[in-house]
Formats: sequence, C-alpha cells, structure tokens
Amino acid sequence: MAENLQVNYNASKEDIYQEILPQIESVISSEENYTANLANICAILDTAFNHLWTGFYLKDGNTLVLGPFQGPLACTRIPVSPVPRGVCGAAAVTQETQLVADVDKFPGHIACSSASKSEIVVPLIHNNEVEAVLDIDSAQTDTFDHIDAKYLEELMQIIKTKHFNK
Ligand code: SME
Repeated sequence: MAENLQVNYNASKEDIYQEILPQIESVISSEENYTANLANICAILDTAFNHLWTGFYLKDGNTLVLGPFQGPLACTRIPVSPVPRGVCGAAAVTQETQLVADVDKFPGHIACSSASKSEIVVPLIHNNEVEAVLDIDSAQTDTFDHIDAKYLEELMQIIKTKHFNK
C-alpha cells in the first residue's frame, strides 16, 4: 500500500531522521519482501535528503552486488575478499560505518560517479557476517557526520530485526 511521506524540509537533519525512521518502520511492517522494503527505504531516504546516490549493496559470496537504489547508474559488483575494494569493501571487512569526508582522499575509493565527493557506508551485520551495506553518496564534500551514522545504524538495526532476526 502506498503511503504519503511526511518530511519537514525546514527541520534539522536530526529531526528529519527522527521523523522518517518511524515512517520507515511503518512502511516495512506490512511487507515481508526484503527487496521491496529496501527499495522503499531508498525512496524514503532520497525523498528526505536528496543526496546524489542512495542504495544498498548485498552480500553475494565474496562480493557485494548492487541492490535497490536511487540515483545514477552504479557499479554492479564490489569485491570484499580476498581483497576488499572501495568504501563499501572497507565497511564490509571492518564491519564498521565508514565516514568519508573527501572521497579523493580515500585510497581505493570506487568512483561510480565523478560527481560523488563524500560518502557514508553503514553495514548490516548478522551472525558476525555483513549481509548488506547502505551506501549514500553526496555531490559535496564533508556531508555526513556522527548524526548520519547514528540514525543510519539505527535504520540498519530496524532492517535486521525485520529480515534477519527471525
Ligand atoms: N563509492 C563506493 C562504490 C559504490 S558507488 O559510490 C554507488 C565505494 O567506494 O565503495
């Protein structure tokens, strides 16, 4: 069922996260399909923040494969082992959120788009394995901070509880 998203664009970033997280929980509560829910989560984040690229990469053997996203054409596969590539590969191997203020200063950054200037990648960890990462790219440097990390990690917990903790 389609729903109308409520976003106060004049609010602070933190207030917008606090506004949309319950709406995300509500939207995914009535649907069991993982792909469908990730797709709507991308749509909600994109509507709320309108970053350059917002999407998921999903574990597929030794790589991450492109999942639901909003934004320009993206790389399909990112190696994780034996040699991780890019910010997504780093998030998968360290199992920690990667905050990259300037992608040109991140060794091995994968430039899917030359317009991307900063990036955050947040892993979803289940049973000590990274099942997915959420990757958000910005056309400006220094876009993401601990507030994004806090709420996007909360979002990954919501997805994990819904789709992995069964
Ligand atoms: N920049 C990412 C690759 C994915 S695209 O940005 C959509 C990385 O370095 O892992």
